[in-house]
Amino acid sequence: MYVAQPILWTDRGVVMLDQRFLPGEEISHTYTNYQDVAKAIREMVIRGAPAIGVAAAMGVAIGVQKSGAKSLSELKAEFPIILDTLAKTRPTAVDLFWALDRMKLRFNEITSRTSDLAQISATMVEEAKAVHSEKRTTDEAIGRFGAELMPREGYVMTQCNAGALATAGIGSALGVIQVAVEQGKKLHVYVPETRPYLQGARLTAWELHRSNIPLTLITDNMVGHFLKSGKVGAIVTGADRIAANGDTANKIGTYQIAVLAKENNVPFYIAAPVSTFDLSIPSGDHIPIEERSSDEVTQIKGIRIAPDVPAAHPAFDVTPNRYIAAIFTERGVARAPYAESLHALAVSAASATAK
Ligand code: MRU
Repeated sequence: MYVAQPILWTDRGVVMLDQRFLPGEEISHTYTNYQDVAKAIREMVIRGAPAIGVAAAMGVAIGVQKSGAKSLSELKAEFPIILDTLAKTRPTAVDLFWALDRMKLRFNEITSRTSDLAQISATMVEEAKAVHSEKRTTDEAIGRFGAELMPREGYVMTQCNAGALATAGIGSALGVIQVAVEQGKKLHVYVPETRPYLQGARLTAWELHRSNIPLTLITDNMVGHFLKSGKVGAIVTGADRIAANGDTANKIGTYQIAVLAKENNVPFYIAAPVSTFDLSIPSGDHIPIEERSSDEVTQIKGIRIAPDVPAAHPAFDVTPNRYIAAIFTERGVARAPYAESLHALAVSAASATAK
């Protein structure tokens, strides 16, 4: 199985594979300050909810490591600015804020015990590395739970890119498919191209192809046609934020796939870590939806495909919980009523992982 490496902590800085150039070119950048890490998140060098969380954690760590602060009080004055800069990058993926909260907690804890700046810096770096390494374990557990619900053979469908590129582990939705294939299931994946940013065509197709998993790329307006064919056994996508009632924000286009899935009796599943839960909001109505540049709709790679007219670009939509057959997490599978099942998973011990 091929596992892409979208981000890495190194002695030189935070190294990111620039996903804007995939699949054509594999270009990496090394970032040595938190402002550049923030810019990389905002400009989609790295994307995908859990991977954005890893990048944010590393952004905080590099911010502390490279800080010019000469005392703990100076560092404490700078720290909220680092957090704020990273928080203002992308609004929808809650993993970003989860990672910032975790780094803040660690910072408060270590600075209550020591004022040694070198020790504080080393601790923050270790925490960011831990956030990263946990992604792999988490994804593998999600994969094991989800694989059980994949068909033994035949077609499945996904949306956007929820592979290793998007999680910095083995992938959430693609992790489920990878694990199912490793278990011997004979799956063939329909990959909607995911206009306007083309994460399906550029990234999911690239990852599946490298893993030798059979796929067929389709345009977004073919989804209904293929779901109606009766050949698709399951759909599995990732998530950017899951509200307390199970309503789920994911890449634009996910909602219409889920509705078409219900119409055609195809189970629609979400695969996401518990860090993607936002139990502070009662429903998907409260999820902030990122509005991106209309240029991404009217142009592809700088080539104009529409006249210079107004174009909308909500980057995410919200799928109401009634369309979701189950949510695969690293702690188990949640089913309706989600208000109860998500809460139970959130409070359950992290040790309750897949067998
Ligand atoms: O705009 P993006 O590319 O960051 O959006 C990514 C998605 O919507 C993914 O499906 C989601 O983050 C889940 S990734 C495991």
